[in-house]
Amino acid sequence: MMVEHKVLISEGQIKERIQELGDQISKDYAGKEICMICVLKGGVMFMVDLSKKITVPVTMDFMAVSSYGEEFVSSGIVKIIKDLDEPIQGKHVLIVEDIIDSGRTLHYLINLLKERNPASIKICTLLDKPEQRLVDVEVEYVGFVIPDQFVLGYGLDYCQKYRNLPYIGVIEPDRE
Ligand code: IMP
Ligand code: MG
Repeated sequence: MMVEHKVLISEGQIKERIQELGDQISKDYAGKEICMICVLKGGVMFMVDLSKKITVPVTMDFMAVSSYGEEFVSSGIVKIIKDLDEPIQGKHVLIVEDIIDSGRTLHYLINLLKERNPASIKICTLLDKPEQRLVDVEVEYVGFVIPDQFVLGYGLDYCQKYRNLPYIGVIEPDRE
């Protein structure tokens, strides 16, 4: 059984926006090589599709993090489940995320990765929910700004499911 939801951003809209982001990123990084870092698991679909629209050389690495329990919420500490395979020193790092909500995860991650002395480090997120932001994070590339609603699909899960939907859906608030 499928959770009740409606389409917020269609497959076509995602494709179109990713092409635009790919063009912009290729232009901004002309003459450079990008080290794309995907934050598992939500960022997978986006990173794969985005990478195909980037025309400069790219490498890919993956990182998995999880937030600690509620009692640590204010500290914003996240646990590294899987670290990168390769060093990032001297590389142009582009972190690829599915969604920024409070900003805690990326705030922590970016500070951690900065200590490894990359040549540059920027963030590209498919979705941005600015209404819930608690920590300020500088984001270079944003696919779509969305209202404060729970979304699923295209990498994003609801109880670990629906990541494979080709569109971004929003759970109907009255049926949650
Ligand atoms: P934050 O920015 O540290 O609050 O955490 C963002 C993370 O929370 C994302 O990477 C997602 O894994 C998850 N998340 C936030 N909002 C949603 C949503 O609407 N649907 C699915 N996952 C979400
Ligand atoms: Mg995520």
